[in-house]
Amino acid sequence: MGVTAVASWLSLGEGSTPLVEARRTSGLHLKLEGLNPTGSFKDRGMVVAVERAAERGARAVVCASTGNTAASAAAYAARAGLEAVVLTPAGATAGPKRAQARAAGARVLEIEGTFDDALRLCRELGARDGFVLVNSVNPDRIAGQKSVAFEILEQLGSVPDVVALPFGGGGNVSAVAAGFAEAGVAPRIVVGEAAERATTWASAIRIGEPAHAEHVAELVAAGRVEVVTLSEDELRVAWSRLAHEEGAFCEPASAAGVAALAKLGIDDGVNVAILTGHGLKDTAAVGEPPAETVAATLDAVLEALR
Ligand code: F0G
Repeated sequence: MGVTAVASWLSLGEGSTPLVEARRTSGLHLKLEGLNPTGSFKDRGMVVAVERAAERGARAVVCASTGNTAASAAAYAARAGLEAVVLTPAGATAGPKRAQARAAGARVLEIEGTFDDALRLCRELGARDGFVLVNSVNPDRIAGQKSVAFEILEQLGSVPDVVALPFGGGGNVSAVAAGFAEAGVAPRIVVGEAAERATTWASAIRIGEPAHAEHVAELVAAGRVEVVTLSEDELRVAWSRLAHEEGAFCEPASAAGVAALAKLGIDDGVNVAILTGHGLKDTAAVGEPPAETVAATLDAVLEALR
């Protein structure tokens, strides 16, 4: 079942993202969620949440965001004819994500505080008349995001041994676990979180207090989810290898599932890593080495390549 079965008129074609086999790690499959309409997995749930908000007569949707939720909410709000209000932690989100939100006409306010402060304010704003909160504490988001589990089963044609993904606020792991449970299967689910939650280089998961912490703890206690805590180096290495060895350029946070698999030494079986966001979301992560300028002659080019 695709997400379009739930939401139709607002769809931008979310879901049905490629599941490709890794070339360097046998049995590993990469679910390329960066190929969603706004470049991240958020679109699967956002289309449902914004559609329901519009149908309930909302004037505006509101969200706190490290960037991707903002870009997604802005796009679907624009399409639904609603306002989008976005609160982000000041100076802590990737520029292209803020650009996406602004391009779609969202009001983007940078809060002098953390993501957790922004979420607290959005919960308060969302309780006001006319506003609907579209963070993943909104159950419509989770309902839509579950679709990735059904899709993986359909594309793989079997139940994966392990499914790995990042753990920021915990909405996505909650959705993925619910999706597999609904499908009546129980792959091992491994999630990677940054040890340095509040300051990590992987800005999408720079979240000190996960909104779904309690539910994730329940999933862990029930033996359905394992949490792997990752150093900054482990995140960087996994991210860099995905681009260098697989051509899969994702944003830093998106590599947390692969980093978790590496840390646990999982290298056989049929496994799926969900790459949650596109690399173009955070080009600053690549760094800017000095440009290599050469004369416009073949000799100069060959000389530079020696
Ligand atoms: N990967 C990416 C690319 C993300 O943007 C996020 C969360 C996650 C993973 C973690 O997912 O929070 O459901 O555990 N981004 C949110 C945002 C916080 O505002 O865009 P989670």
